[in-house]
Amino acid sequence: MKLEGKTAIVTGAGLGIGAGIAQRLFRDGARVVFADIHPENCQNQVDEIDPSGDRTFVVKTDVTDENQVQNMVAETINKFNGIDILVNNAGIFTDSRIEETSLEEWNRVIGINLTAAFLCSRAVLKMMKDKREGKIVNIGSVVSKTQSPNPSAAYAVSKAGIHRFTIQLAVESAPYGINVNAVAPGLTDTPLGRLLTEEAWNFAVNERIPLKRAATPDDIANAVSFLVSSEAEYITGEILDVNGGLIMD
Ligand SMILES: NC(=O)c1ccc[n+]([C@@H]2O[C@H](COP(=O)([O-])OP(=O)(O)OC[C@H]3O[C@@H](n4cnc5c(N)ncnc54)[C@H](O)[C@@H]3O)[C@@H](O)[C@H]2O)c1
Repeated sequence: MKLEGKTAIVTGAGLGIGAGIAQRLFRDGARVVFADIHPENCQNQVDEIDPSGDRTFVVKTDVTDENQVQNMVAETINKFNGIDILVNNAGIFTDSRIEETSLEEWNRVIGINLTAAFLCSRAVLKMMKDKREGKIVNIGSVVSKTQSPNPSAAYAVSKAGIHRFTIQLAVESAPYGINVNAVAPGLTDTPLGRLLTEEAWNFAVNERIPLKRAATPDDIANAVSFLVSSEAEYITGEILDVNGGLIMD
């Protein structure tokens, strides 16, 4: 198994894409920490895939809270003795128009979708640098690369920020043997994806996505599984599109 002996943290692992990634890394042989603000959704999965609890661990984490992020990292080290892989996946979606967006909503979206990736990455960097290896994958979005009427400006900006943060972190971490990449999903069939109106969903699938379907969480997890493996050792600072051909460049 290609990730045997590795320890991975996946944020937002309770539902959707994060659940798909966490379970895929587990199947790849990794020890996986399921971190989510709703730990009950993680516990259900862990009970099913790893009843002994030998290779999984659930930690309640609000990724916008610096202390909880530190605790997530400390508990992971305590349980599994290190951290090799971090997947910054937790996110929320809003669709308000700019003039209707409160400052509170703006800050909440940027906080969960962007600032949290900074907090979580910063918290694992020292350990990865000391070990001179590590893999970080951030989950971005197609919406930061093309126009779309659906997301709020806060959401689109948070994802553009994630892509730029990925590149900066990749540059700073490369001398220490750490690979940092992003995956930019297109429309994906998750509770968040289903926040789109039925009309917007059908338009995307029928008119905009050449492969004529939304992604599944497994489609996104396949890309993450590759990027955190030794097969992607020479890839860093990449924003990998997984969008059914919605953008081709
Ligand atoms: N679904 C899509 O169409 C789509 C497309 C592009 C990008 N994305 C991105 O993929 C990522 C996952 O999205 P999803 O569709 O699986 O969403 P989802 O809503 O289905 O799941 C998100 C998970 O994140 C958790 N979460 C939310 N706030 C949190 C916080 N403060 N701390 C810790 N956990 C928190 C939730 O509890 C939930 O388990 C997000 O970053 C999203 O922006 C999704």
